[in-house]
Amino acid sequence: MRVRIGQHTRHFRTVTFDRKSRSVVLINQLLLPHAFRIERMRDHRATADSIRKMIVRGAGAIGATAAFGLAQGALEFRGSGIVAFGKHVEKVFQLLKNARPTAVDPLNAMIGILQRMKSGKSIPEQQALALAAAQQFADEDVSHCESIGKHGAKLIHKGARVLTHCNAGWLAFVDVGSATAPMYAAQEAGRQFHVFCDETRPRCQGASLTAWELSQQGISHEIIADNAAGHLMSRGEIDLVIVGSDRTLGRTGEVANKIGTYTKAVLAHRHGIPFYVAIPLSTIDWNLKSGRDIPIEERSAEELLGIWGVTRRGKREYVCVANPTSSARNPGFDVTPAELITGIITPKGIFKPRELWRNRVRLGGAR
Ligand code: MRU
Repeated sequence: MRVRIGQHTRHFRTVTFDRKSRSVVLINQLLLPHAFRIERMRDHRATADSIRKMIVRGAGAIGATAAFGLAQGALEFRGSGIVAFGKHVEKVFQLLKNARPTAVDPLNAMIGILQRMKSGKSIPEQQALALAAAQQFADEDVSHCESIGKHGAKLIHKGARVLTHCNAGWLAFVDVGSATAPMYAAQEAGRQFHVFCDETRPRCQGASLTAWELSQQGISHEIIADNAAGHLMSRGEIDLVIVGSDRTLGRTGEVANKIGTYTKAVLAHRHGIPFYVAIPLSTIDWNLKSGRDIPIEERSAEELLGIWGVTRRGKREYVCVANPTSSARNPGFDVTPAELITGIITPKGIFKPRELWRNRVRLGGAR
């Protein structure tokens, strides 16, 4: 994705690895859209912290960050013996895995790396394999998102009004994005359309991140309050919904995504509006048998009781919004059932949610 900084535009990936300093290099998403700053995570603990604190967020982006974090942790080993090395890698894996629970991409990425490491006989060989596998995960994330764009672009016709929720854009991946990929491909094909970005309380990823991305990209868009979509749908002002996912169950077609997605799916169903979910293959969980088993992150009450923003003088501040003596419940994600989803846009094509399992070999699952 190209970012305008002052007079210049430059291409950035959301997550990269600097081999020389052995650092994971990230765009600090806490500061967007008000400031664009690159941060370096110099060891695997700082990398895990960057996921926990949401300096980096979004399923694919935290997948790549965890992947590089695991390789980084493996490279940090200072002991001796392959057994001690294995124990050290397991600790790094657990720390990164527990940083955020709902998205499955970090787990899928790291399991893939551990598999690849098995073919190395010595510690240096395993370290090199870990880094190569992490880089491969990051590169595949980009190519998967590009393929999602190719398959999904046909859904966005000239003049379409598209609703999206949260940020499943290039900031949520290594580049390109999942829900935004069809939009970028339709733009590339010369079609004009309009995007409504749900604000996405409590953290406002739609208002801050998706709106920023779309303005960088020159795509017509407006931010709407989370509660406005039903009204716009009832007036015939939304033609299509495209969202991302943090975990999609291959067995059932259920989709976990940012809190509020389920509500939008119910509304879209009520109004006969197509509802699509765009995912790379790393977002598919082939193991869980029910959406009820998806670990839903419960986040701090602070996020709901107030809000972070920037003052007119450019100072980043938290302001209290809610009644100060009240407590709050803040689940970060919800699960949308298969029957509310028109199609899942994957790098291999568009599938009905319940077709995923039948196509599991094509979609990277086990036989
Ligand atoms: O809590 P976040 O910002 O990490 O949430 C993840 C998301 O941005 C959304 O749920 C998104 O739609 C899926 S991530 C590609």
